[in-house]
Amino acid sequence: MELIRIPRIMQDTAKEHMLRGKPIGFVPTMGALHEGHLSLVRRSKQENRITVVSIFVNPIQFGPAEDFQNYPRDTEGDSEKLRKEEVDILFIPDASLMYPGGFSTHVKVEGFSDKLCGAFRPSHFRGVATVVTKLFNIVNPARAYFGQKDFQQTVVIRRMVKDLAMDIDIVMCPTIRERDGLAMSSRNAYLNEAQRTAAPVVFRALNEASGLVESGIIDAAHIQQKMQERILAEPAVSGVDYIGVYDPITLNELSELKDEILLAAAVKIGRTRLIDNMLVNVKKER
Ligand code: PAF
Repeated sequence: MELIRIPRIMQDTAKEHMLRGKPIGFVPTMGALHEGHLSLVRRSKQENRITVVSIFVNPIQFGPAEDFQNYPRDTEGDSEKLRKEEVDILFIPDASLMYPGGFSTHVKVEGFSDKLCGAFRPSHFRGVATVVTKLFNIVNPARAYFGQKDFQQTVVIRRMVKDLAMDIDIVMCPTIRERDGLAMSSRNAYLNEAQRTAAPVVFRALNEASGLVESGIIDAAHIQQKMQERILAEPAVSGVDYIGVYDPITLNELSELKDEILLAAAVKIGRTRLIDNMLVNVKKER
């Protein structure tokens, strides 16, 4: 596995692979890698001649009161995991090279960035869209891989790629879960034992809601209420950003369910913010 730290070198290396007819699959990450990330790496390995993984804890996607400083970092452990997966290139740029003095360009995907998580993390998706654009320009991938756990992120990136005519396939891969259903996330490391035991409540609420849709209920308010009741009944839950039923294309909240719907929630357990979602096909399940 080749380790590259300088964007210019990454860019030249990517160009060489392109010229040799070796398309690149790209997995952008912020490190603290878990099975969710590794599932993206495996998919990229299956579909591309070259797989590049980046690790960059992107400062501009964190709000001022968020966990940028404490975000888990384990470059050595991550490198070891990626070496085992036989990743071709690990790109770990320094913040000073990604955002040199005078940096003043940002990418904002209007509309999609202000809903769901964006309503609670106002500059988050602008930070994500900006860094992903820059990483795409450096790595020049044919395909890029994202997890469904961050569903809104994938929607924002797909929109951006379409709007800005970036010739990149955005591949969304299934959420990888712990045995008790908790969606894998680097932030799960913040949970203490009691909080970790409580955390699968989000998955259970989504799962039960999906069962209700399956049983023929199409009243979104009812589904929303059931998910909320379930989540708020867990004493470890310290706050709720949103719980609801959304259109997976527009991310607008729905009042009546048809076709495919997105059940999604963002809750706090202690000081840890957890997100999860589930896509449910209404037609097929009724
Ligand atoms: O999903 C993440 O880990 C990050 O938001 C990403 C896409 C690597 C951008 O910093």
